[in-house]
Amino acid sequence: PSLPVFVYGSIGSTNDQAKELLSKQAAPLAVFAEHQTVGKGRRGREWVSPFAKNIYLSFVWPVTRGLNQIDGLSLVVGLAVLKAIKRTSGIEAELKWPNDILINGRKVAGVLLELVGDPVELCHVIIGIGININMFDSLTDIDQEWTSLAKELGKTFDREAVAKVLLEELDSYLYRQKIYGFASMRAEWLSVHAWQGRNVVLRTGNDEVHGKVVGVGEKGELRLSVEGKEQSFLGGEISLRLQ
Ligand code: BTN
Repeated sequence: PSLPVFVYGSIGSTNDQAKELLSKQAAPLAVFAEHQTVGKGRRGREWVSPFAKNIYLSFVWPVTRGLNQIDGLSLVVGLAVLKAIKRTSGIEAELKWPNDILINGRKVAGVLLELVGDPVELCHVIIGIGININMFDSLTDIDQEWTSLAKELGKTFDREAVAKVLLEELDSYLYRQKIYGFASMRAEWLSVHAWQGRNVVLRTGNDEVHGKVVGVGEKGELRLSVEGKEQSFLGGEISLRLQ
């Protein structure tokens, strides 16, 4: 069956719109917008979303939590975005755990996952993806080093072509994750991991942990060596920076 795709002009956030559509439309489904007035980033931040420059997508994916289908999902989405960037621009981006997409250390895309529905029965993951495509400069301050495909290669891109490839890759990676799990893609993930072996500071709430990145585990958890002992970290509210 073909995927229902909804395309809007200016809306608040594609993630919120996707949640609303769920009441009348079965998932999977895709929501694109040309502009977001309240684009949301991770950890309560704003996602700068100028009109007709970038890709703002929410992909709604049905999951059953009991089957551990959430494990590694956010890392798998990173792989799909990376592949779509590679196929449409030739650029080999890298991933920063859990799912920032970087080109030469600058952020080109981000992923925001939201879970809706019954945690035991069927629920849905709203996979929000923002990819900087043709943004050369921003009217708003962006509080981190960023780039876009256009900035990298000095030419503009056909956003629709990138969006089409992105949907293909999401479909393919999410099915793989559903059937074989993240473990089957762990090696691939590690091969594009930007901060492998680096010394980092990890922050959860008010806690800070200093350690060296060892890699990721079979559930997509970050593994750090902290004072010689290996520790795992899992969860959405974690932030990471280089030491
Ligand atoms: C991040 O902080 O890295 C996550 C950014 C996610 C942005 C996308 S754009 C489409 C979707 N709608 C939103 O409001 N946010 C996500």
